Amino acid sequence: MQKKITIDQLRPGMYVVSTNRSWISLPFFRKSIQNQRTIDKLRKASVTDLVIDLDRGVDVEIALDSARGDLPAAGSGAAIQRQAEQASQIQTMVFQQTAELMEEIRAGKMITEEQADQQVGLLMDQIFEDPQSMLCVSVLRNANEIVFDHCVNLSILALFVGKSMQLDEVALLNLGKAALLHDIGKCMLPKEIINKKGRLSRSEQEHLRQHVDRGLAYLAKMKNVPAVITDFVGQHHEYLDGSGYPRGLKGDEISFYGKLAGVLNAYDAMIHRDGANRPVDPRAALGELKEQVGRLYDAKAFKWLVDCLGPYPPGTILMLDSGEMAVAFEPNHTEPEEPKILILTQLDGTFRDQPLPAQVGEAVGEENLERRIVTPMTLEDTNFNPLDILAKYGHKSA
Ligand SMILES: [Fe+2]
Repeated sequence: MQKKITIDQLRPGMYVVSTNRSWISLPFFRKSIQNQRTIDKLRKASVTDLVIDLDRGVDVEIALDSARGDLPAAGSGAAIQRQAEQASQIQTMVFQQTAELMEEIRAGKMITEEQADQQVGLLMDQIFEDPQSMLCVSVLRNANEIVFDHCVNLSILALFVGKSMQLDEVALLNLGKAALLHDIGKCMLPKEIINKKGRLSRSEQEHLRQHVDRGLAYLAKMKNVPAVITDFVGQHHEYLDGSGYPRGLKGDEISFYGKLAGVLNAYDAMIHRDGANRPVDPRAALGELKEQVGRLYDAKAFKWLVDCLGPYPPGTILMLDSGEMAVAFEPNHTEPEEPKILILTQLDGTFRDQPLPAQVGEAVGEENLERRIVTPMTLEDTNFNPLDILAKYGHKSA
């Protein structure tokens, strides 16, 4: 659906279809609005009216709230709900646009680096603005009908890890693109195989393994692809002990970004698994990976992931000693057992109208209660998705 708006209502995350100025006069313009700088440039170029596409970008409602000056206080439950909702909208938009990109590849077209830049740039801006919400969203969203959700979620995770590695902007963009494109070779395989739910036969597995070389062959036709992308794409299924594919590389025959790709790909695949394997709780997934460090996965690459996520990765559902349920929101690097959390339920077990932001070990709330984590839980244990709860009450709190 399309909607007409004014330049004052324009905000990052929106997808612009047209403006009152011709495209020729706006050479810098990208259709997905990524940051305030682009909005300022459009304003300078005398753009006053625009048409946005609500199916490909965020709606105007948040911008209207902002214009009325009634945004909730930063750090409040309402503000966090709103951020989670915005992160979710941007993720959905990138899902859709990535699916379109992959369809173009499937149809035999060559994509440009700028097209990949656009997707990753949008995720990057959101991650810099509000990293916790974006990571929560990427962990909580289960794989749905769109085949390439895994690529978008892996890109979010890679950007998050790259940011904690303090990569510069160019290196970060390349890492995000590498993750977005890591399974690009699957576009060249029959849909029946890549969409198949349940276990693959041996011949189907062999067929699926071709996606790595098919992806490399596609990248070889693109211009100036940096080594981080070819390493990530070409080595994300290699294992340190040589048992991976397609080359069976061992140890340092795998580049650092190939090793990082192996760890990140395995982690995201575990927490979002569909079909034959059930998804694993993020904390349990880290535990499973840890057991294979040294044999399959590189210790340094694994440490980057753990340093960035902490023992309770954002999005992990937690049972508190008060009996309330919460979702881990932000790791605490000084006191890892005391992450920032959002408490979703009340002492009587009913859902709160707004999540209560808290830090484990600090007294908050009407009861001034100091809470501790009893145990992490899985989505199956709880039978609800905290992201749905956050999104559901987002508008209500405005
Ligand atoms: Fe893969």
